[in-house]
Amino acid sequence: MTKSLTLQSCAVLRDGAQIPILGFGTYELESKDAYNAVTWALESGYRHIDSAEWYENERGCGKAILDFCRSHDVPRSSVFYTTKLKYNDGYEGVTRSIQKSLNECGLGYIDLYLIHGPIGGKTARLESWRAICEAHKSGKLKNIGISTFGIKHLQEILDFCSERSLPLPSVHQIDLHPFQVRSAIVEFSKRHGIILEAWAPLVRGLRFKHPSIVNLSQKHNKDPAQILLRYSLQKGYVAIPKSSSHTRIASNTQIFDFELSDNEIQDLDNLDEALVTDWDPTDCD
Ligand SMILES: NC(=O)c1ccc[n+]([C@@H]2O[C@H](COP(=O)([O-])OP(=O)(O)OC[C@H]3O[C@@H](n4cnc5c(N)ncnc54)[C@H](OP(=O)(O)O)[C@@H]3O)[C@@H](O)[C@H]2O)c1
Repeated sequence: MTKSLTLQSCAVLRDGAQIPILGFGTYELESKDAYNAVTWALESGYRHIDSAEWYENERGCGKAILDFCRSHDVPRSSVFYTTKLKYNDGYEGVTRSIQKSLNECGLGYIDLYLIHGPIGGKTARLESWRAICEAHKSGKLKNIGISTFGIKHLQEILDFCSERSLPLPSVHQIDLHPFQVRSAIVEFSKRHGIILEAWAPLVRGLRFKHPSIVNLSQKHNKDPAQILLRYSLQKGYVAIPKSSSHTRIASNTQIFDFELSDNEIQDLDNLDEALVTDWDPTDCD
């Protein structure tokens, strides 16, 4: 089934919108470097770019997308652009952040807008969601979701949506890889029709030399990054690997000509060590 995946494959969000299953991450790329990397990514066939207010590279990402679309004569709508809210700082503050992100990227609308993390407390999170829903209603944000939420945070937002008849989150972006499988959060998100997006799908390079990864790499004649990305896609996740290297950006797309077996996926799941590569606010108040 998953063998038929291609670089153009998309997952379908709850309202029918499509999100390309392989995206390009831009964390720790300054705006000018992000411009180059996003350009290489688009030239390599990615059609999904992940940025954030926090990364301070929305301008570089947006400009790279617009320049690519112009020079290749493709519509802006052919590229799926995500950005994220930095702070849960109240309805007015969030509304300003959304407008700032729109101005920075220059893309006219944002394909996916996420609450970057749950920090700030329940009231702040729900105010963020209320502001995001308003911008979604006006068409500025085509799809909306959350990132790095624990089950408590997810339940609270689902209850709020049901009380206020607000749209539910479509996407949950969270760290997911064989060394951090987050079974309970994954199961909960899936049960509520929320598509999972894997950040740090390459484990930030921290486990490329793990014997199980090396073994699969030799067996399939693929590099460790390609094994990890294939795992992500076969788990049904949207993966957003980052690289600053033209060569690695391209090689990370070469994952559609092989398949991991069910047993290999199970063996990879068994490597779970709840490894945190960046931050983990899933238990915050
Ligand atoms: N929502 C959140 O809270 C959150 C948190 C973290 C990340 N993210 C998003 O998820 C994206 C991906 O996560 P991440 O950047 O943390 O980690 P990642 O994609 O797992 O790993 C990136 C690292 O792997 C290296 N790399 C990439 N391709 C490689 C290859 N083929 N061979 C060897 N090394 C390779 C990169 O180095 P080079 O650059 O030198 O290639 C970089 O050091 C981010 O960029 C960001 O967009 C979201």
